Amino acid sequence: MYHWADYYDLTQRGLAGDLAFYEEYAKAAKGEVLELGCGTGRVTIPLAKAGIQITGLEISQEMLAKAVTKAEGTGPVDHLSFIQGDMRHFSLGKTFELIMIPYRSFLHLLHIQEQMKALRCIREHLQPGGKLVFNVFVPHIKHLYEEGEKLTLRGIYPFQDGQQVAMYDFTRYDHFQQLAEVTRSYELLDNNGKMLERVTGLFTLRYIFPAELHHLLRLAGFKVLERYGSFAKTPFDSASTEFIIVASPA
Ligand SMILES: C[S@@+](CC[C@H](N)C(=O)[O-])C[C@H]1O[C@@H](n2cnc3c(N)ncnc32)[C@H](O)[C@@H]1O
Repeated sequence: MYHWADYYDLTQRGLAGDLAFYEEYAKAAKGEVLELGCGTGRVTIPLAKAGIQITGLEISQEMLAKAVTKAEGTGPVDHLSFIQGDMRHFSLGKTFELIMIPYRSFLHLLHIQEQMKALRCIREHLQPGGKLVFNVFVPHIKHLYEEGEKLTLRGIYPFQDGQQVAMYDFTRYDHFQQLAEVTRSYELLDNNGKMLERVTGLFTLRYIFPAELHHLLRLAGFKVLERYGSFAKTPFDSASTEFIIVASPA
């Protein structure tokens, strides 16, 4: 029997180039780094291994436990700590040169009040001149319309002993509240394709339009320093599917 965090860890490999991008900003920061919504440590652990002093904050005890086990399994890692916490209200008693929110974790904040609370906490935890770096997907209307209310096979991933994991999403949209409610199922298949178990979880994201994010950051006292449409630093334009923001307290 595997858990949600095990399947998450197997299937969620990030976006092309995101790890190298965040590592570049973490190295340039020349100080302590905080990752919000660190999950199973996909970004946190390699950055610590690259010599960066990093803290991962995560709300889910299960995801955090997986991150700790993974970190221990890779041998001694200096400069790394994990904290269970909520990015909407945290108080760590210190400040950071860089706060990062990779892989769209900011979208887990479902109301403007929650987004504002998180941005206020982030400001309080940034050194003067410190940076906030994060990415969210771009909600293209066509994409939202096409995906609504149907079961979608997201991918099939090789697992141990010839087994495979199939990942399905069923997404229901509330376009008034800008919410995407995703019911995600992981199916473990043996090497004949027979299903051995199914683990299902529900999560909700609040999609954010790029202009809205600019206003939100200004309202929370940030200025946008850089913005990109991919982790290769291509300019953000109408064809971009990802919105990557570098901001600092105004
Ligand atoms: C898409 S995952 C990203 C994990 C990791 N950053 C990565 O890049 O693989 C989003 C994570 O944010 C966490 N999360 C959601 N709401 C949160 C909150 N309010 N505070 C802290 N973490 C939160 C979820 O539990 C989940 O582990």
